[in-house]
Amino acid sequence: MSQERLKIVAGNWKMHKTYQEGRDLAASIVEKLTPTQTMVVLCPPFIHLKGISTIINDITHLELGAQNCHFAEQGAYTGEVSAPMLRSVGCRWVILGHSERREYFGEDEALLAKKVDAALAHELRPIFCCGEKLEVREAGKHVELVQQQLQGALFHLSAEQFGRVVIAYEPVWAIGTGQTATPGQAQEMHAAIRQMVADKYGSEVADGLSILYGGSVKPANAKELFARPDVDGGLIGGASLKADDFVAIVNAF
Ligand code: PGA
Repeated sequence: MSQERLKIVAGNWKMHKTYQEGRDLAASIVEKLTPTQTMVVLCPPFIHLKGISTIINDITHLELGAQNCHFAEQGAYTGEVSAPMLRSVGCRWVILGHSERREYFGEDEALLAKKVDAALAHELRPIFCCGEKLEVREAGKHVELVQQQLQGALFHLSAEQFGRVVIAYEPVWAIGTGQTATPGQAQEMHAAIRQMVADKYGSEVADGLSILYGGSVKPANAKELFARPDVDGGLIGGASLKADDFVAIVNAF
Protein backbone atom coordinates (compact mmCIF):
# COMPACT_ATOMS: atom_id res chain seq x y z
CA MET A 1 0.00 0.00 0.00
CA SER A 2 2.89 2.27 -0.72
CA GLN A 3 2.14 5.68 -2.13
CA GLU A 4 4.24 8.28 -3.79
CA ARG A 5 5.57 11.01 -1.54
CA LEU A 6 4.44 14.22 -3.21
CA LYS A 7 6.33 17.47 -3.12
CA ILE A 8 3.72 20.11 -2.37
CA VAL A 9 3.65 23.89 -2.17
CA ALA A 10 0.31 25.19 -0.90
CA GLY A 11 -0.70 28.84 -0.67
CA ASN A 12 -2.89 29.76 2.28
CA TRP A 13 -4.40 33.11 1.33
CA LYS A 14 -6.16 33.42 4.71
CA MET A 15 -8.71 36.30 4.70
CA HIS A 16 -7.02 38.29 1.94
CA LYS A 17 -8.07 39.48 -1.52
CA THR A 18 -11.45 40.50 -2.87
CA TYR A 19 -12.98 38.23 -5.48
CA GLN A 20 -11.51 40.05 -8.47
CA GLU A 21 -8.11 40.44 -6.79
CA GLY A 22 -8.16 36.71 -6.08
CA ARG A 23 -8.94 35.85 -9.69
CA ASP A 24 -6.17 38.16 -10.86
CA LEU A 25 -3.68 36.55 -8.46
CA ALA A 26 -4.63 33.05 -9.60
CA ALA A 27 -4.34 34.07 -13.26
CA SER A 28 -0.95 35.59 -12.63
CA ILE A 29 0.28 32.44 -10.87
CA VAL A 30 -0.96 30.33 -13.79
CA GLU A 31 0.87 32.59 -16.22
CA LYS A 32 4.17 32.46 -14.33
CA LEU A 33 4.21 28.77 -13.38
CA THR A 34 6.43 26.61 -15.51
CA PRO A 35 5.74 22.86 -15.80
CA THR A 36 6.63 21.23 -12.51
CA GLN A 37 6.40 17.90 -10.75
CA THR A 38 5.58 19.74 -7.53
CA MET A 39 1.89 19.72 -6.58
CA VAL A 40 0.81 23.34 -6.24
CA VAL A 41 -2.34 24.00 -4.21
CA LEU A 42 -4.15 27.32 -3.98
CA CYS A 43 -6.29 27.82 -0.88
CA PRO A 44 -8.26 31.05 -1.34
CA PRO A 45 -11.29 32.12 0.73
CA PHE A 46 -14.41 29.99 0.21
CA ILE A 47 -16.25 32.41 -2.04
CA HIS A 48 -13.35 32.59 -4.50
CA LEU A 49 -13.14 28.84 -5.02
CA LYS A 50 -15.59 28.42 -7.89
CA GLY A 51 -14.30 31.45 -9.78
CA ILE A 52 -10.70 30.31 -9.45
CA SER A 53 -11.53 26.72 -10.39
CA THR A 54 -12.30 27.88 -13.93
CA ILE A 55 -8.91 29.61 -14.14
CA ILE A 56 -6.81 26.65 -13.03
CA ASN A 57 -8.94 24.05 -14.81
CA ASP A 58 -6.96 21.49 -16.75
CA ILE A 59 -3.57 22.58 -15.42
CA THR A 60 -1.84 19.51 -14.09
CA HIS A 61 -0.23 19.78 -10.69
CA LEU A 62 -2.27 22.87 -9.81
CA GLU A 63 -5.24 22.15 -7.57
CA LEU A 64 -7.69 23.93 -5.30
CA GLY A 65 -7.96 23.71 -1.54
CA ALA A 66 -10.13 25.30 1.14
CA GLN A 67 -8.93 26.69 4.46
CA ASN A 68 -11.47 24.90 6.63
CA CYS A 69 -14.65 22.83 6.49
CA HIS A 70 -17.43 21.74 8.80
CA PHE A 71 -17.66 18.16 10.06
CA ALA A 72 -21.30 17.62 9.07
CA GLU A 73 -22.46 16.88 5.54
CA GLN A 74 -25.25 19.42 5.80
CA GLY A 75 -27.56 20.87 8.40
CA ALA A 76 -28.49 23.83 10.55
CA TYR A 77 -24.98 25.28 10.96
CA THR A 78 -25.35 28.91 9.97
CA GLY A 79 -22.32 30.33 8.25
CA GLU A 80 -20.51 27.03 7.76
CA VAL A 81 -19.36 25.17 4.63
CA SER A 82 -19.35 21.38 4.28
CA ALA A 83 -16.92 18.98 2.65
CA PRO A 84 -19.39 17.93 -0.09
CA MET A 85 -19.92 21.61 -0.93
CA LEU A 86 -16.18 22.04 -1.34
CA ARG A 87 -15.97 18.99 -3.59
CA SER A 88 -18.82 20.36 -5.68
CA VAL A 89 -16.76 23.42 -6.66
CA GLY A 90 -13.66 21.43 -7.55
CA CYS A 91 -11.72 21.40 -4.28
CA ARG A 92 -9.38 18.49 -3.71
CA TRP A 93 -7.67 19.66 -0.53
CA VAL A 94 -8.62 21.26 2.76
CA ILE A 95 -6.40 22.84 5.40
CA LEU A 96 -7.51 21.68 8.86
CA GLY A 97 -6.30 22.70 12.29
CA HIS A 98 -4.44 25.83 11.30
CA SER A 99 -3.16 27.57 14.44
CA GLU A 100 -5.38 30.58 13.71
CA ARG A 101 -8.44 28.30 13.73
CA ARG A 102 -7.22 26.80 17.00
CA GLU A 103 -6.49 30.20 18.56
CA TYR A 104 -9.44 32.33 17.39
CA PHE A 105 -12.15 29.72 16.85
CA GLY A 106 -11.40 27.29 19.63
CA GLU A 107 -10.71 24.28 17.43
CA ASP A 108 -9.28 21.34 19.31
CA GLU A 109 -8.19 17.82 18.47
CA ALA A 110 -11.63 16.27 19.14
CA LEU A 111 -13.29 18.65 16.68
CA LEU A 112 -10.47 18.29 14.17
CA ALA A 113 -10.76 14.50 14.23
CA LYS A 114 -14.37 14.89 13.04
CA LYS A 115 -13.37 17.37 10.35
CA VAL A 116 -10.63 15.04 9.12
CA ASP A 117 -13.20 12.23 8.88
CA ALA A 118 -15.61 14.46 6.93
CA ALA A 119 -12.90 15.54 4.52
CA LEU A 120 -11.75 11.99 3.82
CA ALA A 121 -15.33 10.74 3.44
CA HIS A 122 -15.78 13.28 0.64
CA GLU A 123 -12.49 12.77 -1.14
CA LEU A 124 -10.78 15.87 0.12
CA ARG A 125 -7.18 15.45 1.21
CA PRO A 126 -6.59 17.12 4.59
CA ILE A 127 -3.52 19.31 5.07
CA PHE A 128 -3.42 18.88 8.82
CA CYS A 129 -1.57 21.62 10.68
CA CYS A 130 0.32 21.04 13.89
CA GLY A 131 2.92 23.00 15.79
CA GLU A 132 3.85 24.56 19.09
CA LYS A 133 3.79 28.03 20.59
CA LEU A 134 7.04 29.64 21.68
CA GLU A 135 6.64 28.85 25.39
CA VAL A 136 6.18 25.17 24.59
CA ARG A 137 9.38 25.10 22.55
CA GLU A 138 11.24 26.96 25.25
CA ALA A 139 10.06 24.35 27.74
CA GLY A 140 11.41 21.63 25.44
CA LYS A 141 7.96 20.09 25.01
CA HIS A 142 7.42 20.75 21.30
CA VAL A 143 7.80 17.17 20.08
CA GLU A 144 5.49 15.92 22.81
CA LEU A 145 2.85 18.53 21.91
CA VAL A 146 2.93 17.66 18.20
CA GLN A 147 2.60 14.00 19.12
CA GLN A 148 -0.54 14.82 21.12
CA GLN A 149 -1.96 16.78 18.20
CA LEU A 150 -1.45 13.89 15.79
CA GLN A 151 -2.73 11.36 18.27
CA GLY A 152 -5.86 13.36 19.03
CA ALA A 153 -6.85 14.29 15.50
CA LEU A 154 -5.34 11.68 13.14
CA PHE A 155 -4.32 8.44 14.77
CA HIS A 156 -7.85 7.04 14.86
CA LEU A 157 -7.62 6.71 11.06
CA SER A 158 -6.96 3.42 9.29
CA ALA A 159 -3.63 3.17 7.48
CA GLU A 160 -5.47 3.48 4.20
CA GLN A 161 -7.21 6.67 5.31
CA PHE A 162 -4.02 8.08 6.75
CA GLY A 163 -2.38 7.60 3.38
CA ARG A 164 -4.51 10.49 2.05
CA VAL A 165 -3.35 12.93 4.76
CA VAL A 166 -0.64 15.57 4.44
CA ILE A 167 0.87 17.10 7.57
CA ALA A 168 2.02 20.71 7.82
CA TYR A 169 4.36 21.50 10.68
CA GLU A 170 3.86 25.16 11.51
CA PRO A 171 5.52 26.43 14.67
CA VAL A 172 3.19 29.19 15.85
CA TRP A 173 6.12 31.48 16.67
CA ALA A 174 7.16 31.40 13.00
CA ILE A 175 3.79 32.22 11.43
CA GLY A 176 3.59 35.73 10.00
CA THR A 177 6.49 36.84 12.21
CA GLY A 178 9.35 36.72 9.72
CA GLN A 179 11.08 34.39 12.17
CA THR A 180 11.42 31.18 10.17
CA ALA A 181 12.43 27.95 11.86
CA THR A 182 15.96 27.05 10.87
CA PRO A 183 16.22 24.22 8.34
CA GLY A 184 17.70 22.18 11.18
CA GLN A 185 14.72 22.84 13.48
CA ALA A 186 12.29 21.98 10.69
CA GLN A 187 14.14 18.79 9.75
CA GLU A 188 14.33 17.67 13.38
CA MET A 189 10.57 17.98 13.88
CA HIS A 190 9.72 16.52 10.48
CA ALA A 191 11.88 13.48 11.19
CA ALA A 192 10.21 13.12 14.59
CA ILE A 193 6.76 13.28 12.94
CA ARG A 194 7.74 10.67 10.36
CA GLN A 195 8.95 8.43 13.18
CA MET A 196 5.64 8.84 15.07
CA VAL A 197 3.79 7.86 11.91
CA ALA A 198 6.12 4.89 11.35
CA ASP A 199 5.50 3.71 14.91
CA LYS A 200 1.75 3.92 14.38
CA TYR A 201 1.30 2.83 10.74
CA GLY A 202 4.60 1.30 9.68
CA SER A 203 7.48 2.57 7.61
CA GLU A 204 5.80 2.28 4.23
CA VAL A 205 3.03 4.67 5.21
CA ALA A 206 5.54 6.98 6.89
CA ASP A 207 7.76 7.03 3.78
CA GLY A 208 4.80 8.02 1.62
CA LEU A 209 3.71 10.88 3.88
CA SER A 210 4.30 14.44 2.69
CA ILE A 211 5.29 16.74 5.57
CA LEU A 212 5.20 20.46 4.75
CA TYR A 213 6.86 23.23 6.70
CA GLY A 214 4.98 26.49 7.28
CA GLY A 215 5.94 29.75 8.97
CA SER A 216 7.54 32.70 7.17
CA VAL A 217 8.65 30.72 4.12
CA LYS A 218 10.01 33.15 1.54
CA PRO A 219 11.83 32.82 -1.80
CA ALA A 220 15.07 33.54 0.10
CA ASN A 221 14.78 30.64 2.58
CA ALA A 222 12.67 28.06 0.70
CA LYS A 223 15.55 26.33 -1.06
CA GLU A 224 17.43 25.60 2.13
CA LEU A 225 14.31 24.33 3.89
CA PHE A 226 13.18 22.14 0.98
CA ALA A 227 16.67 20.63 0.69
CA ARG A 228 16.18 18.81 3.99
CA PRO A 229 15.27 15.14 3.52
CA ASP A 230 12.04 15.21 5.53
CA VAL A 231 10.78 18.59 4.32
CA ASP A 232 8.47 17.79 1.41
CA GLY A 233 7.29 21.31 0.69
CA GLY A 234 5.66 24.29 2.30
CA LEU A 235 2.43 25.85 3.44
CA ILE A 236 2.85 29.48 2.51
CA GLY A 237 0.90 32.41 3.98
CA GLY A 238 2.13 35.95 3.30
CA ALA A 239 4.37 35.04 0.37
CA SER A 240 1.51 33.25 -1.40
CA LEU A 241 -0.21 36.60 -1.98
CA LYS A 242 2.40 37.72 -4.51
CA ALA A 243 2.57 35.66 -7.69
CA ASP A 244 6.30 36.19 -8.20
CA ASP A 245 7.20 35.15 -4.64
CA PHE A 246 4.88 32.17 -4.64
CA VAL A 247 6.16 30.87 -7.98
CA ALA A 248 9.76 31.42 -6.83
CA ILE A 249 9.00 29.22 -3.80
CA VAL A 250 7.51 26.53 -6.06
CA ASN A 251 10.69 26.70 -8.13
CA ALA A 252 12.87 26.35 -5.03
CA PHE A 253 12.73 22.56 -5.34
P1 PGA B 1 3.21 32.80 6.86
O1 PGA B 1 1.94 31.89 7.20
O2 PGA B 1 3.87 32.18 5.66
O3 PGA B 1 2.64 34.15 6.55
O4 PGA B 1 4.09 32.80 8.06
C1 PGA B 1 2.00 30.50 7.10
C2 PGA B 1 0.66 29.90 7.49
O5 PGA B 1 0.03 30.43 8.41
O6 PGA B 1 0.22 28.91 6.90
